[in-house]
Amino acid sequence: MILKGKTALVSGGSRGIGFAIAKLYHDEGANVYIMSRNAEKLGEAADKIGSDDRIHAVPCDVSSKTAVDQAFERIKADGARIDILVNDAGVNLRGPLETMPLETWEKVLGINLTGTFLLTQKVFPDMKEAGGGKIVNIASLMSEVARPTIAPYVASKGGVKMFTRAIAVEWAKYNIQANAIIPGYIETEMNTPLIADKEFNAKIVGRTPAARWGKPEEVAQAALFLASKGADFITGQALAVDGGILANLM
Ligand SMILES: NC(=O)c1ccc[n+]([C@@H]2O[C@H](COP(=O)([O-])OP(=O)(O)OC[C@H]3O[C@@H](n4cnc5c(N)ncnc54)[C@H](OP(=O)(O)O)[C@@H]3O)[C@@H](O)[C@H]2O)c1
Repeated sequence: MILKGKTALVSGGSRGIGFAIAKLYHDEGANVYIMSRNAEKLGEAADKIGSDDRIHAVPCDVSSKTAVDQAFERIKADGARIDILVNDAGVNLRGPLETMPLETWEKVLGINLTGTFLLTQKVFPDMKEAGGGKIVNIASLMSEVARPTIAPYVASKGGVKMFTRAIAVEWAKYNIQANAIIPGYIETEMNTPLIADKEFNAKIVGRTPAARWGKPEEVAQAALFLASKGADFITGQALAVDGGILANLM
């Protein structure tokens, strides 16, 4: 029970990578808050994670400061103090850059980057008071390299990686460690269209040295390590869980 006695908040915890992280944290003894927009799906996810009083569903749109403030009022009303924050909530909206509507740009940046900023600011008082904490931000291969038609996503995930370093250097004095995870191609709902596209699928499997898609549970293992005491001297890093794709030129 690596996380016994700790309280974690996982945004995007209703499915995919966030769900796998929340489940593993709960399995490892943590008190876990999960957050996403669809309240019904979030409740179902909480039920799947556990039937005890260590799992809590808090519906919230992380891109809205008002919604985030309200969600924290609810968490505070429980008397909870967040020791571990996982910023996982993310979206990807596609389109050619030359005609990209401003709304699309703002929506992706608002959820992926501003949402990360809002939650990070919110957990600071708890972590400072507790004498430390862990922040794990879910970045992307697109924090390192780019692909056409996803400019807002690429910009947001580059921002998430650098924001992680900004937290790390500014809050090291409070014993807060912030690290990012760079998932490779992971089998989740976000990628359903890509997995169904035979040509794209073959390209990904062909380019990944491990020759397969990754699983959300494999990303969760890295998130567990980065939230654990074993990672107390690791901060400002971005750990790729990608089957080797970033290391591969061809
Ligand atoms: N899958 C991959 O291959 C991959 C690779 C690299 C990075 N990532 C990153 O990993 C993270 C999770 O990806 P995934 O594949 O697990 O995605 P997913 O299956 O689409 O899940 C996304 C989660 O984020 C929540 N969410 C979306 N917008 C939100 C908002 N405004 N406020 C609160 N919650 C919100 C969703 O719930 P609601 O829709 O109900 O809000 C859901 O719980 C994302 O940041 C993604 O960019 C994924």
